[in-house]
Amino acid sequence: MSSQWGGVDRARRIVTLAAKKFGDDLLRNSCVLMRGKASGLDFIDVLAQRLDGREVKTAVEIGTCTGLSAAVLACFAEMVVTFDVKPLPSAADLWHTTTVSNQICQVVMHADDAKIRMLDRIPFEFAFIDGNHHRHAVAADFVATRKSGLVLFHDYPWMVNPLNDGADWLVKNGIVDGMLAKDSPYLWWEPPSC
Ligand SMILES: C[S@@+](CC[C@H](N)C(=O)[O-])C[C@H]1O[C@@H](n2cnc3c(N)ncnc32)[C@H](O)[C@@H]1O
Repeated sequence: MSSQWGGVDRARRIVTLAAKKFGDDLLRNSCVLMRGKASGLDFIDVLAQRLDGREVKTAVEIGTCTGLSAAVLACFAEMVVTFDVKPLPSAADLWHTTTVSNQICQVVMHADDAKIRMLDRIPFEFAFIDGNHHRHAVAADFVATRKSGLVLFHDYPWMVNPLNDGADWLVKNGIVDGMLAKDSPYLWWEPPSC
């Protein structure tokens, strides 16, 4: 069963269109083409695996950047609320070009406190964490989004800067305490089943 928001087919069309209009650099700066080491699945497949057939009214994204992953998320959720400290100005153009603007709410915040308070106030059924990868930042984002019951982390584990291994650190320290599916660079979390 595919998502009522277009699922895999719409998401692939969006990526092709965005690459054509904004160039291949866009793809390099985004997670969308990164493949899971174990499964070989890319971001779109990874979302389809868990979100197809699930009713996601609102998906939250931490880390907008070019806006491409938010556009892809809009194929699996009615509404995407995406947070960043300094998103690229071209993101709005990308959403317009790929006809997802009416599904995206962009939040530009200058302090994590504001983001956390906002997340506390809004309901959502899924979160994608791809913002500040520092340990304490990822921990704060996870604590603020775990109420959704389904969280996808990107850049797991992170090797470049040892302190930017947020998702890995959460796992090693038992802070993510539920059911985990590890497929580097993707890590899925769901709460423990009763
Ligand atoms: C790796 S990029 C996101 C890529 C995007 N998700 C994609 O795949 O197309 C990380 C983004 O997180 C943003 N960021 C950094 N610190 C943040 C924070 N504390 N909260 C939210 N976003 C943050 C950066 O400005 C940057 O745009």
